[in-house]
Amino acid sequence: MSLLELSGVDAHYGESHILRGVSMSVEEGEICTLLGRNGAGKTTTLRCIAGATPPEVRSGSVEFAGTEVTSDAPEDIAARGISLVPEERRVFPNLTVAENLRLPEVSRNASNRLGRSVATTREGMALEEVYDYFPRLEERTKQRAGTLSGGEQQMLAIGRALRQPTDLLLLDEPYEGLAPQIIESVEAAIQRIREDGKTILLVEQNAVAATKIADSAYVVDQGEVVFEGTADELEADEETRQRYLGV
Ligand SMILES: Nc1ncnc2c1ncn2[C@@H]1O[C@H](COP(=O)(O)OP(=O)(O)O)[C@@H](O)[C@H]1O
Ligand SMILES: [Mg+2]
Repeated sequence: MSLLELSGVDAHYGESHILRGVSMSVEEGEICTLLGRNGAGKTTTLRCIAGATPPEVRSGSVEFAGTEVTSDAPEDIAARGISLVPEERRVFPNLTVAENLRLPEVSRNASNRLGRSVATTREGMALEEVYDYFPRLEERTKQRAGTLSGGEQQMLAIGRALRQPTDLLLLDEPYEGLAPQIIESVEAAIQRIREDGKTILLVEQNAVAATKIADSAYVVDQGEVVFEGTADELEADEETRQRYLGV
């Protein structure tokens, strides 16, 4: 059984048919990369997994760890262990690094006070553990997030996601806008997170960097899966790479 399984997922925004029967599976403990050009449907796929798209715009099924989560609320999906690091990081610029990292805790306590039932009471990573992954964040705990470099903001966004219970980490273009050297340090962090037992779904436009650390790969184009295979198979498939990824 795969950890994550999408079957025939469709999404519509108004008249536009954005995802067309997307089926994919992610195995426990792997790094799976989802590639495709700008506008191909990558973010929409992640949002369907996380329950962030309204249920009325999508159909098909999403199963996580053998349980159907297709119609669950985003906070319940998060509580099951799916954490999303959104596109463009979305850290809170006026809060400090430490405040950004405490937010998951604050919102969890608030939901508990409001009596919302969440699917589990598991906790995410402790602050110290996050700092162990990203020592640069520890050096900057009191700094406002908006003043961090792009790479540091990406580390903060990943760290914040890990503060929620995480079995599957969804990363939406974490390398976007980062210098090659910084990409390498984010890459190293992703590999370490995987070694620590978490599963990664890595959405990227940077196909070369993503396939380098991935086990399996999917390519989407105009909302359809046009390739699925191992990362090595994609690397060897020049036609697919040139046609859909331009590399
Ligand atoms: N909220 C929305 N309303 C209407 N169209 C959208 C919305 N979000 C995305 N789209 C469209 O859906 C398509 C896929 O977008 P997206 O999933 O963001 O692609 P990607 O992440 O691969 O760049 C694009 O054509 C985009 O313009
Ligand atoms: Mg996107």
